[in-house]
Amino acid sequence: KRLKVWVSRPLFADVLARLEQYVDIDAEAVERVHDAQELKQRLAAVDGAIIGLADRVDAATLAGNHRLKVISNLAVGYNNLDVEALTKAGVLACNTPEVLNETTADYAWALLLAAARRVGAAERWLRAGRWRGAMRFDDWLGVDLHGKTLGILGMGRIGQAIARRAGGFDMRVLYHNRSRLPELVEHGCAAHWVDKASLLRESDHLVLVLPYTAENHHIIGAAELASMKQGSVLVNIARGGLVDEAALAAALREGRLAAAGLDVFEDEPVVHPDLLALEQVVLSPHLGSASADTRRNMAGLAVDNVLAGLGVGPGAGRPPAPINPRVLAMRERGGKA
Ligand code: GLV
Ligand code: GLV
Repeated sequence: KRLKVWVSRPLFADVLARLEQYVDIDAEAVERVHDAQELKQRLAAVDGAIIGLADRVDAATLAGNHRLKVISNLAVGYNNLDVEALTKAGVLACNTPEVLNETTADYAWALLLAAARRVGAAERWLRAGRWRGAMRFDDWLGVDLHGKTLGILGMGRIGQAIARRAGGFDMRVLYHNRSRLPELVEHGCAAHWVDKASLLRESDHLVLVLPYTAENHHIIGAAELASMKQGSVLVNIARGGLVDEAALAAALREGRLAAAGLDVFEDEPVVHPDLLALEQVVLSPHLGSASADTRRNMAGLAVDNVLAGLGVGPGAGRPPAPINPRVLAMRERGGKA
């Protein structure tokens, strides 16, 4: 009997067809949110699942589920998954790292540039038909990126890809990370480690690229915003919960920060009304990895993960991107996790 996989979001047809060569699939044709109860039911009826960030899996979701073997997350971040609970339940969890690094770094620069140079507000102004006759020479003045200091909070692979691009803008790059990168890696992206306080104080443009964890909740709050450089720009391409959104809106209103570029929000798809009210914030609906090539690669990797996790298909070896490889070790020993 063929194994069964639930796909919670519409995916590229050819990628689904490849999955269907090896397993029976139950693929959602329409994008929608699954509540906790439906998610639990869906996951109880399959051997594997490909899910998105809106699908939250915890101990309650898995309670009584003796069938599920693998969850393949369509994202690199996996704060939607309770990894501890998955491991306890013997369910392998996988994500899509690496394939989105460069695309997401590109997008960080899109927001850095758009926020600093006021691209969003200026376009709205133009489309509203307000560019009539003479525009003042000192209208729409933004802030420069070139020659300034770029700060990166969270220096994983995406942070490093952002840093490498800064060379073309002649920027000084500072970063903060819990652990300092090896010198060779620092050299490769021409970035220098500083403590968090110095990063906030010295950056003209600050990008957040950290994973969202309980300890990183509101890592940029009122106190941090107050210590940022006057007139600086904040970009968040990681997770909304890293930033206290009301405090950010206040810092922008007061003019402490010049602008912000936000791709992620604490309560997606809801955007804090104080942020929506501000012209100097560039807002986008969580698009960091959304290039055609990269979204295809992510979907392909999610399929590879689920097939290998179920031990079927061409690469029926080790899944390419396990989050809790302990489950694989347990399986090899023939025990439960
Ligand atoms: C998107 O936010 C991801 O984690 O891939
Ligand atoms: C601006 O477009 C200029 O020509 O200076």
